[in-house]
Amino acid sequence: MSTSAQDRAPDVTERAETSHLAEAIGRILPALERFTRYEGVDPAARQRAAWQERLDRPLPERGAGLEGTLDELAEWVIPYGLRNGAPGFNGWITTAPTTVGAAAGLASAVAGSQRWWLQSFNHLEAVALRWLAELMRIPDDWQGTFCPGGSTANLIAIGAARQHAFEGRGVDPARFGVPAGEARVYASTEVHHVVVRAAAVLGLGRASVVAIPVDAIGRIDVGVLRETLERDRAAGVIPVAIVATAGTVNTGAVDPINAMADLAEEFGTWLHVDGAYGLFGRLDDRVAPLYEGLERAHSAVVDPHKWLAAPMGIGAAFVRDRSLLGRAFTLEPAEYLEGAVDTGVDAVSPFDNFGELFHDFNLDQSAPSRGVVVWALLREIGAEGLRERVRRHNDYARRLADLVDADERLELVAPPTLSICCFRYRRDGLDEPALDRLNAEIARRLRAETPLVPSTTRIGGRFAIRPCYINPRTTVDEVDGLARAVRELGDRIAG
Ligand SMILES: Cc1ncc(COP(=O)(O)O)c(C=O)c1O
Repeated sequence: MSTSAQDRAPDVTERAETSHLAEAIGRILPALERFTRYEGVDPAARQRAAWQERLDRPLPERGAGLEGTLDELAEWVIPYGLRNGAPGFNGWITTAPTTVGAAAGLASAVAGSQRWWLQSFNHLEAVALRWLAELMRIPDDWQGTFCPGGSTANLIAIGAARQHAFEGRGVDPARFGVPAGEARVYASTEVHHVVVRAAAVLGLGRASVVAIPVDAIGRIDVGVLRETLERDRAAGVIPVAIVATAGTVNTGAVDPINAMADLAEEFGTWLHVDGAYGLFGRLDDRVAPLYEGLERAHSAVVDPHKWLAAPMGIGAAFVRDRSLLGRAFTLEPAEYLEGAVDTGVDAVSPFDNFGELFHDFNLDQSAPSRGVVVWALLREIGAEGLRERVRRHNDYARRLADLVDADERLELVAPPTLSICCFRYRRDGLDEPALDRLNAEIARRLRAETPLVPSTTRIGGRFAIRPCYINPRTTVDEVDGLARAVRELGDRIAG
């Protein structure tokens, strides 16, 4: 590979290679291909001394050049990467991208490095948001926007709710901040902690999030929610939003959206649906009725980097009132932006027109093209392919629950609603702390001795092993294998 910039003009001293992309990528492709076969024992933690020593060098004064850098990438970085795409990884609600997702991510980095301007990647932002909305049956006039993930998506939605609550009281919180006084966000004890952080960042304060208890399967207790709203109304508290979680991170429970929409209406407040993980569940007919009422909400979020297996960094927020969202997040005019295009002309250059605009609806001005990735993922498998995946994964959780039920040494800790199944090993005569310790040891040994990596959680104080099936590479073998391995390890450890 030669240095093209230097070939081109002798006065150019740029040292970074700017061409030969196919050759460069070809150089690391075998390592990437090998990595995605996930063969053998995961070497990342075991061999960390070797790769850390190799990689943790002082800042180089002289660069290693393209070939040297790519070779190091292939030999010392890629093989020790994160194997969360391996079939046995069913821990967090994230996975590695499928092939087309990785390819589209590369295309985005190279040919769509900004989502602005009159070009294909910009257009695909809008197309992909429309497709996502259609899949989830989110009304088509809601404003969608891509963002880095569920954390930001929830912040955007709660930011719009804040705008709604305070504008209704004559104050623009985006301009003047949140007035003193009590404002609250209502969510269940199972709400994801990013919602609590969003309240902190938005100036409402973490303490503004009221944790409403849940029922036996993890859904918000609507009776307690109503009592709390009534009590707070009498005390003059401002209700900023009610948050329904459609697919809790612990158990996959779906809050009763319709009943919560009734309360939002009655108390004149905003209903937000956090479906970062579970909104895709709507594609499974058997659980689709749980999502009724979504169209009555004011905002909803879903993360393509979860069940859709997009590369990390793709969430989406949808807000019913576009202009309100704009007032909450407008970038405000800037001459270097507004003065940069002549919107009056019939565009002949992509830079004559900003294209579909999203910067007023989220936190980023510059942002990568994420729509192309979502578009590619859906273009490849269609709605049908995603429906099959969601159904298959929900089936896996039910299959595991059946295996657990059939084994007297295993016990369900929370029945699956979607694709999460929480269970544990049990042994008569062991008290709860001892069972917790035993199951924690089983989880540790699973990671050390098998390719199976579920995560763990606590449900009602009890330690549970918690696989979450969203990984397209997982098969029924990993499901059956997990029940078997937990049983065998438990027998071995408990003696
Ligand atoms: C229900 C729910 N909301 C929000 C989040 C946060 O999403 P992210 O990790 O993409 O920021 C998650 C992550 O698992 C989640 O499950």
